[in-house]
Amino acid sequence: MQQKLEQIRQEAKAALAAAEDSKAVDELRVRYLGKKGEITAILKQMGSLSAEERPKMGQLANEVRADIESAIAVALSEMNKKALELRLKKETLDISIPGKQETVGSLHPLNNTLNKLIDIFKSMGFDVVDGPEIETDYYNFEALNVPQDHPARDMQDTFYLTENMLLRTQTSATQIRTMEKRKPPIRMICPGRVYRSDDVDATHSPVFHQVEGLVVDKGITMCDLKGTLETMAKEIYGSDTKVKFRPSFFPFTEPSVEVDVSCSECGGKGCRVCKGSGWIEILGAGMVHPKVLQGCGIDPEEYSGFAFGIGLDRLTTTRHKISDIRLLFENDLRFLKQF
Ligand code: DAH
Repeated sequence: MQQKLEQIRQEAKAALAAAEDSKAVDELRVRYLGKKGEITAILKQMGSLSAEERPKMGQLANEVRADIESAIAVALSEMNKKALELRLKKETLDISIPGKQETVGSLHPLNNTLNKLIDIFKSMGFDVVDGPEIETDYYNFEALNVPQDHPARDMQDTFYLTENMLLRTQTSATQIRTMEKRKPPIRMICPGRVYRSDDVDATHSPVFHQVEGLVVDKGITMCDLKGTLETMAKEIYGSDTKVKFRPSFFPFTEPSVEVDVSCSECGGKGCRVCKGSGWIEILGAGMVHPKVLQGCGIDPEEYSGFAFGIGLDRLTTTRHKISDIRLLFENDLRFLKQF
């Protein structure tokens, strides 16, 4: 019996040392220590022993049992340790791997300039309105005092969609829509795309952008026009900027002006940006023609107003010293990333 117990001890320990997982350990525990296990089977035979041998064998059997129990505990704790190591290895973060760079976009230079203009005009009490890019002949020309056969229509080569529908050539169309809808006092700007059938070159594009402005109230004079546009120009180009009002002609304003600013690049001496003249033309403006007011149901005896149309592309290219207007439309990231 002693031999048999020793054999069980050896076998069990060897088997436990070789066990691969906790399920195998459990099977061995049942096999050796379970109710129907090998040790129990041996203990059942104790009755056949002499009274002298019985306690000795009992003691040995207990020792073997304790030995196997501790071998089980060791095997299980080894397994837990290995499992933990494996998990730690799998879950380890390599903090030396370089991080992913999120690329942050930036505003297009046109939007940048537009946002600045909106801020400036909002601070002077203007609101921002929107108008359709597909217009009727009436809003784009007729109501702006440009009748059929008027020579001014030749100045603005128009994309016609039908005889009566066109892609607006100027944001001025929104002046009419606004005056039809609202009663004075009116102070609004309308930024947007405009279209003319121009050939593409460094300073022309068939689609470009204007920011229209309109003020109508009692007692509005040319002084208000000058003050407003001078304030805007100095905010955009800097407080040293000189502003020049040149007489001009637009069918929808009387009198009409074009506004130049001293070149921000050379300060007026003449350079590439201003094409040697020292001045940059940025907008057309004037006092709203009485016929235009009347056509919108506003009494020109009671109200007067001024209007202007800023060339947003021009403003943007000169502000940022961009030499070619096409860069604004090509969406070349190498160019756009500079802003
Ligand atoms: N619409 C004119 C253009 O495209 C610019 C302009 C001039 C707008 C005078 C105005 C204005 O509102 O009063 O050339």
